[in-house]
Amino acid sequence: MQLKDSSLFVQDAFIDGEWVSKSKKFPVYEPSSETVLGEVANCDLEDFKKAISSADVAQREYWLSTTALQRGAALRTWYNLIMANQDDIAQILCLENGKTFAEAKGEVAYAASFISWFSEEGTRAYGETIPSQTPHTTLMTFKEPVGVCGIITPWNFPAAMITRKIAPAFAAGCAVVIKPPSETPFTCLALTKLAVEAGIPPKCLQVCPTKDRQAATELCTNPIVKKISFTGSTGVGKMLAKLAADTLKKCSLELGGNAPFIVFDDADVDLAVEGAMFCKFRCTGQTCVCANRLIVQKGIAPAFTAKLVEKVAALKLGPGMDPSTTQGPLVNRGGVDKVKEHIKDAVSKGAKLEFGGAAPDHPGFFHEPTVLSGVTREMLVAYDETFGPLAPIFTFDNEDDAVKLANDTEFGLAGYFFSKDVGRVMRVARRLECGMIGVNTGKISAAEAPFGGIKESGYGREGSHYGLAEYQNIKSVTIGNTNV
Ligand code: SIN
Repeated sequence: MQLKDSSLFVQDAFIDGEWVSKSKKFPVYEPSSETVLGEVANCDLEDFKKAISSADVAQREYWLSTTALQRGAALRTWYNLIMANQDDIAQILCLENGKTFAEAKGEVAYAASFISWFSEEGTRAYGETIPSQTPHTTLMTFKEPVGVCGIITPWNFPAAMITRKIAPAFAAGCAVVIKPPSETPFTCLALTKLAVEAGIPPKCLQVCPTKDRQAATELCTNPIVKKISFTGSTGVGKMLAKLAADTLKKCSLELGGNAPFIVFDDADVDLAVEGAMFCKFRCTGQTCVCANRLIVQKGIAPAFTAKLVEKVAALKLGPGMDPSTTQGPLVNRGGVDKVKEHIKDAVSKGAKLEFGGAAPDHPGFFHEPTVLSGVTREMLVAYDETFGPLAPIFTFDNEDDAVKLANDTEFGLAGYFFSKDVGRVMRVARRLECGMIGVNTGKISAAEAPFGGIKESGYGREGSHYGLAEYQNIKSVTIGNTNV
């Protein structure tokens, strides 16, 4: 690793305002070589308890002693520090996650955009005065921080999923205890170092890497923690919600998806292919909003398939730090096995392999970007999120069939469609059962856009002004007998 500032590569936990080096550590692997990148502190139950108690004291002080403007100023400084160290953070991220260096740099900027957005949004946390129906009475609302937040994040966006949660938490006046992903803890620790340098009170930000699931569940059961924000699988999200229910914690859950990507006959085929390339192969197909099912109308299917295959064939598989690489490895062996399983199942049931299909026989968790056609509802990929570089093409006859197929899943995170017909655009946008829709674009993620799902993709919204509200309580204050 060649960092301009080597102090950004931290392998300790950050608890009670101190960097803590534990004797128990766990290895973190580089997905492109399967070699050990570093060893990070493995926190235990006592570490989580200490972090939570320390955050509790710090949060009260933080809320009482700072204005929204001051909290915003520290966030702005943090944003500037991240952007000044963009290359170093991107290098750490690229090595631990596997995505290309260019994508990693893009992610760092995306992550920083949440900090910039919430540095301003926090200053607009308005309460209200509400006309009271009782004479001589004034009714007001205040927005107050929920308190200590437990933050549990995934490995696919080691920077952005942290900042999307903790920037609004700080803007609202909360403290956080983070369990970063065990596959990619180093990006989070680098961001933490810069946050403290920027003036976020150290005890308001506690980071406990761990492989000990039991210890991490303390975040969901400890009564001091008032909110859980989790991004990850639906199965784990349901388990965390059950654990958090005993102390009625507020929860934001951004869970699994099975995004439909519909291309109608009247679409601009080049635009549709460009959208599919972005939202299928971004992060090697490992995003919750990746197109999982390409649903293409029969008239346009041959042209769409041919153009997609041409673009996919031009992708260059390799280690993320190699500047010629345009598609990195998956995060681990399990990820590769799932792609293989989906391809094998689909081909055995009649799908046609249009491109790719193999995992190279050398170290690293690589799988070729793959295109299948003739995919049907009977195949695993129709219901299960691949989370990998597999583009399966289904076909349909008419709009009703497309919407029915798209909605035939328990998930409802993102959906996309391409059409030039404005009536169809309005109809289909309303009929798709998803929390986020991209029309004639595969890019839907932005700091100002509400991000989140419906159905079994979870609840709560991140980013946007809704993202701030997730970290606030509304307090109503009724002042009676005012004689006015
Ligand atoms: C995710 O995969 O959970 C996040 C993707 C994004 O922010 O675009």
